[in-house]
Amino acid sequence: MKTYKIAVMGGDGTGPEVTAEAVKVLKAAAAKIGFKADLTEFDFGGERYKRTGETLPDSAVEELRKFDAILLGAIGHPDVKPGILEKGILLKARFELDQYINLRPVRLFPGVETPLKGKGPKEIDYVVIRENTGDAYTGTGGFTMKGTPNEVAVQSAVYTRFQVDRCLKYAFEYTKKYGKKARGVGPENTLALVGKTNVLTFIYDLWERAFHEMGKKYYPDIRRDYYHVDATCMWMVKSPEWFDVLVTGNMFGDIITDLGAITQGGMGIAAGGNLNPQGVSMFEPIGGSAPKYTGMGVINPLAAICAAQMMLETLGEEKAAKKIEDAVKFVTANKMKSMAAGKMGYSTSQVGDLVATKVAE
Ligand code: IPM
Ligand code: MN
Repeated sequence: MKTYKIAVMGGDGTGPEVTAEAVKVLKAAAAKIGFKADLTEFDFGGERYKRTGETLPDSAVEELRKFDAILLGAIGHPDVKPGILEKGILLKARFELDQYINLRPVRLFPGVETPLKGKGPKEIDYVVIRENTGDAYTGTGGFTMKGTPNEVAVQSAVYTRFQVDRCLKYAFEYTKKYGKKARGVGPENTLALVGKTNVLTFIYDLWERAFHEMGKKYYPDIRRDYYHVDATCMWMVKSPEWFDVLVTGNMFGDIITDLGAITQGGMGIAAGGNLNPQGVSMFEPIGGSAPKYTGMGVINPLAAICAAQMMLETLGEEKAAKKIEDAVKFVTANKMKSMAAGKMGYSTSQVGDLVATKVAE
């Protein structure tokens, strides 16, 4: 029987609770389809940091390299200064494991309420591919004359041709395989670059040239569009049905995927994958640790469950992934009252049970 070695990092706040439900569903899918998930738990997060001063040590990174995938809950603790855990754990894992793609589907499931008037699952059905290693996230910059009236702060958006090309290649290949035409829900496969070529005339000039060069040469059947990031925000609200696959830099990708998440029903349902197509990938619900709900059993585990679903899809267990996706859709359409914490009509573990039971059918 095929066995996958999975590292489970529940992390902070409600992270461990939602991760437990994702693991429950993962086990149900494994039993149903016939593979094994060999799970190893890690306790990196705010509590451990407070106890030991450790975030994600280098030795842990080396250990994580030996897994087939990582399932992450949430990172962020109210007693720890913002930036320490995010940089020390989440961003460190992304960078050290070179997870250069952040795949964030914006998909409205049946029965889920969206704040977008008149839009449903047919209209809200696209994917954002966020570059995950460059941009303002590289830590390039610094202060001079800090604390004086003449203080200068610089933080540069950095991109190399290599980073841009490997991200674009992934995006074109993804569009070929999962674009709207490939999925049978639209007339063509479209990849749109989201940038700001009118102001960021260096980095998005590089992105734009690389985008058209690669598209023209290797992917002539894929339609290419370009949107400025500010206009993208507008169209994400007004006409999300225009979009198929969007590709963008790290910073814009971070911002627009929070907007995307709220249009798909909120942080309770939005999942993402930090992918290294040649290495170890990490899957996470994109909402935070929601510390105020910790231990109450009211947080929505569907985002974590969808993260496990993406993990299986990426590992090549497409049948199991499809089973989970269908089970989640069944539960959102027929069972849950709301996606919001405390308003689901069920507890966290009951939602996990509903999905797991459906998967096992
Ligand atoms: C995300 C988060 C992170 C990011 C933070 C916590 C560092 O906002 O995954 O979108 O900016 O990438
Ligand atoms: Mn974010």
